[in-house]
Amino acid sequence: MQQDPNDFFRRKKPWSEYKDAILDYYLEPYLPKVATLRLPIAVIDCFAGPGRFSEDGSLGSPLIIAKHLEKAHARGTKVRAVFIEAEKSLFERLRANVKNFPFAIDVLEGDFRTHADHIRQISQDHSVFIYLDPMSPGQLKFDDLKAAYDQLLVGRSVETLINFHSSKFVRRARGLLTRASEGGVLNPAHHEVVACDEIAGGSYWQDIIADGKRTGGDCAEAIAAGYVDKLRSWFRWVLDYPIRQTINMRVPKYHLIFGSRSHHAVDLMNRAMVNARRKFVRAESVEGFLFANEPKEEVVDKGKILTAVLDTASLIGPTKWKFLRTETTVRNASRFTDSEFNQAIKKAICSGKLGADCSGTKIENSAKLWPIAEGS
Ligand SMILES: C[S@@+](CC[C@H](N)C(=O)[O-])C[C@H]1O[C@@H](n2cnc3c(N)ncnc32)[C@H](O)[C@@H]1O
Repeated sequence: MQQDPNDFFRRKKPWSEYKDAILDYYLEPYLPKVATLRLPIAVIDCFAGPGRFSEDGSLGSPLIIAKHLEKAHARGTKVRAVFIEAEKSLFERLRANVKNFPFAIDVLEGDFRTHADHIRQISQDHSVFIYLDPMSPGQLKFDDLKAAYDQLLVGRSVETLINFHSSKFVRRARGLLTRASEGGVLNPAHHEVVACDEIAGGSYWQDIIADGKRTGGDCAEAIAAGYVDKLRSWFRWVLDYPIRQTINMRVPKYHLIFGSRSHHAVDLMNRAMVNARRKFVRAESVEGFLFANEPKEEVVDKGKILTAVLDTASLIGPTKWKFLRTETTVRNASRFTDSEFNQAIKKAICSGKLGADCSGTKIENSAKLWPIAEGS
């Protein structure tokens, strides 16, 4: 049964706080950084909601975004917000909640697809950050923002942060194994299978779902990885952070997926994700216990960071310092920060585990680095 959207916006769900913290943490350094491109900046929230939760008063994404844009506006940056909400009563609340900000805000009612032309036009002459936070996977088709993402091909700065409902997608897709298959094989022409292809951006999910050996959690991770891969056709760098309801829950609530062409943006977004992840781990397992009791995979240890760097170097071959850091980051998103990777790179150079045309005593983003085969 469809949830009443007004019910949804009474109290913020605990796990939504980590998602919102990432948006909040990222926008702080993102806006001054992207302002240096000297284009006006637009932040577009296609699934805006009312802006504020009615019972606990906490901020929804439009007010989080507006708070940061207001600061950028005060620094003299030309900014604009586009907030779109389909549900009339939520749209009215949204309009009232954002009416007093001192910069341009387009508050638009209706399905965001009906405003696709406006979004495309803004993407042509602004640096844009697009936030996509639907309630269910079916509300967002993979190609819905194609016209905006295509602006990357003509050199514009476009970034996207997507809440991909991987687990709900798995539940929906598994249901098709009985409804839309013949002899246990999905019928690719069935309209519900086609609808899932449109959400996922391809048919890669079908084999994952049909593999009876995978758990729900494995399926969600594999499908999110497929989604990330598809987004790479637009975005050079894509980060993926699984948000869980509790630390021991193997099946994530959803995946927060970020795409950008900028390696600076990757460092910033990854920091936001690491920050949220460590806060979550502390709140869930360490605080209130006499001894730290976080799961093994959540323990941050220097050996793991070094291994991540060396494994990535072997995989990608010779590269520059900054690209080794970014490639390691996207393979280990939300686990370790850019400065932890820099420390590990320094250590690897100084101990002869990584070849380099620099000493490794300080960070040199343009230095050449290369893997050294074990035993050589
Ligand atoms: C998960 S909520 C967004 C929450 C919001 N990001 C926040 O932090 O408060 C999704 C919202 O998108 C709206 N929505 C659903 N489909 C939409 C569409 N096609 N176009 C615009 N809004 C839509 C829903 O009414 C709902 O308010």
